[in-house]
Order: sequence, then structure tokens, then C-alpha cells
Amino acid sequence: KEAKLWGGRFEESVTDAVEKFTESISFDKALYKHDIMGSRAHASMLACQGLISDSDRDTILAGLGEIERLIERGDFVWRTDREDVHMNIEAALTDLVGEPAKKLHTARSRNDQVCTDFRLWCRDAIDAIVLRIKNLQVTLVKLALKNEGLIVPGYTHLQRAQPVLLQHLLLAYVEQLERDAGRLLDCRARMNFCPLGACALAGTGLPIDRFMTSEALGFTAPLRNSIDAVSDRDFVLEFLSANSITAIHLSRLGEEWVLWASEEFGFITPSDSVSTGSSIMPQKKNPDPMELVRGKSARVVGDLVSLLVLCKGLPQAYNRDLQEDKEPVFDSVKTIVGMLEVSTEFAENITFNKDRIRNALPAGHLDATTLADYLVKKGIPFRTSHDIVGRSVALCVSKNCQLQDLSLAELRTISQTFDEDVYEFVGVENSIKKFTSYGSTGSECVSTQLDYWVTKLGI
Ligand code: ARG
Repeated sequence: KEAKLWGGRFEESVTDAVEKFTESISFDKALYKHDIMGSRAHASMLACQGLISDSDRDTILAGLGEIERLIERGDFVWRTDREDVHMNIEAALTDLVGEPAKKLHTARSRNDQVCTDFRLWCRDAIDAIVLRIKNLQVTLVKLALKNEGLIVPGYTHLQRAQPVLLQHLLLAYVEQLERDAGRLLDCRARMNFCPLGACALAGTGLPIDRFMTSEALGFTAPLRNSIDAVSDRDFVLEFLSANSITAIHLSRLGEEWVLWASEEFGFITPSDSVSTGSSIMPQKKNPDPMELVRGKSARVVGDLVSLLVLCKGLPQAYNRDLQEDKEPVFDSVKTIVGMLEVSTEFAENITFNKDRIRNALPAGHLDATTLADYLVKKGIPFRTSHDIVGRSVALCVSKNCQLQDLSLAELRTISQTFDEDVYEFVGVENSIKKFTSYGSTGSECVSTQLDYWVTKLGI
């Protein structure tokens, strides 16, 4: 057995079970690129500060380059007995270049190394997610542009409420996604501080320059407190919280489109390319991708909860428990990226069934609130007009008709305020024209919203 890098004070080697239980190489090898980036910056700083010679630095940098190539070619052998990505790379570097490699870990601990790597990895992951959020926004806006003027029933409590433009509904998701991206970018800015040089927890007496490594790695500044630097994981808690909120938004979109694809709604038809069938029922065509978007949101929330529970009992500073922070983050990122990509593809592959939607509009008295506003404009207090329209709806229910089918005489039996012009306010088409407030579903307001997004997203 090879001696451990930390083996000096040990007389026995660890058991196989302990080795297997404590390793993290099986998953933290995903950090290799960022680990090498960190080592490059660290070696360069050590040379600048006279802690290693320039020739040692050059040897180290060349060796790191070779290791990176080996990994990328799939020719690097990851060894469980070397525990984690940091020691695998350091030990391989020593195998490759000898003595100079032994100087790389000067004024560095795996404790500051791992969270430097992890912050760098998360920073890239955030950029990848934000890009995919934008792609979905663009797709939703394009879908809106393709369906100008289409009115759909708006729901509250999943009961027919008021008419809305489909564009308005789609843009609601675009708004939510915008805040999701904003949260990720806020989190990125708070995350972008450098732990490197905090060493194990207390910093070092060696003359390092933390500002130099921080800058070389594109961080805003070094973290101020070395204990905080190695022990805290709020940057990932915040990241996974942001992912969870995004996942919940996507889950709601999934739920809506699953409902809309049902025979009962029939508002959308997903193309075959985004549908799957049943192994027993030959007629079936299911919206599985969006069901799984809904389903996988559970994983993303679960990943956050794992991490919250992981951190709750940890005293300062680094604790080995923190090795368990990687997998939930990797899972959360992989899952949210998949959810965003599939939602985008689904959105690109649905058609709105205009006739079906149009035929659905008369049911549910979607124009009732507009009618109440009509009476308000005639000077009736809103509570009274609510009651008058409520009674008008009751009359419709008893006659099995719509508000626009009631004669003026019938309406007048309920309120003398009704006049001929009432017929401009009833019926879904008329009703929707009356919306003018800022952010409302009226066509002018919606086209203002659309213009905003087209410009903002560069469509
Ligand atoms: N694999 C470890 C982790 O992910 C690296 C840090 C280990 N530090 C230590 N002192 N054992 O947290």
C-alpha cells in the first residue's frame, strides 16, 4: 500500500471499509478543472512571493497541464486510496515531476482548497443555469408572439375566473424566470469571494498574497475571515435555495401543461417528439416530460434540505461532514439543467388548440367582473354591483345561458341601472377589451409587456 500524504504520524493503515467509506474521489473528481485552476494560481503566487523558485513553479505548471490533458483524454487513473480529487492530483503531480510538486501544498490546506474549487465550480454552474433560463424565456416569448390575440380562460382555485390573453399568461412565467435568474446572479455575486490562503482554519505565517490568488481566479476579493472561509457553506445553501425556487416555478408550468394536454382541457397538443406512450394502452400519448419536470422538482428541493440538515449541527470550522456537500449540489445542478432544457423543448413543440379554447370561453361567466365594473362606472358602489351581477349570474344559471344572452328587460328586473350599452361589456371578447390598468391583460398592456421582453431578451 502507498503511504498516505498525511501518513507521517500513523503506524497502521486504514481498513478497507474506512477507506471506502471516507473517499470522495468517486464524485469530487468532477472538480478537477477547478482544482487545477486553483493550484495554478496558488503556485504562481508562491513563486511571486519567493516561497518557491520560478523553476519549481514552471515545473508544477507544466505537470498540472499534463495531468489536465490526461484527465480530459480519459487516461488519468483516479485512485480511491488517494481519497479525493485534491490528493489524487497532488500525488499524481509528484509521480510526474517529483520534488517540486511537494512544494505546491505550501500555505494551503484541503480545507481552503476544496471550498475554493467548489465556489469556482458553482460559479460556472450558475452561468450555465442562467443561460438555460434565458433560453426558456426566449422560447416562451416566441410562443407568445405566435399566438397573438388568443384569449384563454384565466383561473383562480382552478375555477373559471376572468378572460386573459394567452400571451399574458406566458409572460407571467417569463417574469418568474427572470427573478429566478436574478436570485442566481445575486447568489453568484455573494459567492464570488476567495477562501484560498485561509489554510486549515487559521491562515498562515508564511508571506502569501491572498489578493493575488483571488484576483487570478476572478474572485472579487479574498474572504476576510479564515475561519469563516473554510467552514461556511451558505454559498451552496443559497444556490440550492435559488434552484429550488426555479424548480418550483418549472413544476407549476409542468402541472399547467399536463392539465392543458388532458382530454378534459384539450388546450394544447404536444407533438409526438415530446410525448411518450403506454406499454399497455395503445391509444395513449402522455406528456411525460412535463410530468417529470414536476416530479424532479422534488429532487431539487430534497437536495437543498439535505444540505440544510448537513450544516445545522456543525461547530466552527471545517468538519469532514462537509464532504457530503458535493453530491446534493451536483444533483441539483444536473436536475435543474435537465428540467430547463426539457421545458424549453416542450414549449417549442406544443400547439394551442384555438377552436377548442374558443369553444371553452363562454362557460364560467368570465365576463362577470367586467360587468360589475360597468355598474361601478355608472355610479353604483362596488359591493352593490357585485350583488347585482351575482343575481344576474344566478338568473343565467337558472336559464342555462350567458350574461350576454339576458335581455335588457331581464337585466332591469335586477337593476334599473342597466342600459343598452351593457352589451359592450359582456361576452369574453368585449370583456377583455376593458382591461387597461398597468400590468393588466388588456391587449395594449400586454403588447407593452411583450415589447419589453423582446428588447430585453434580444429576440
Ligand atoms: N474531500 C474533502 C471534502 O470534500 C476535502 C477536505 C478534507 N479535509 C480534511 N481535513 N480531511 O471536504
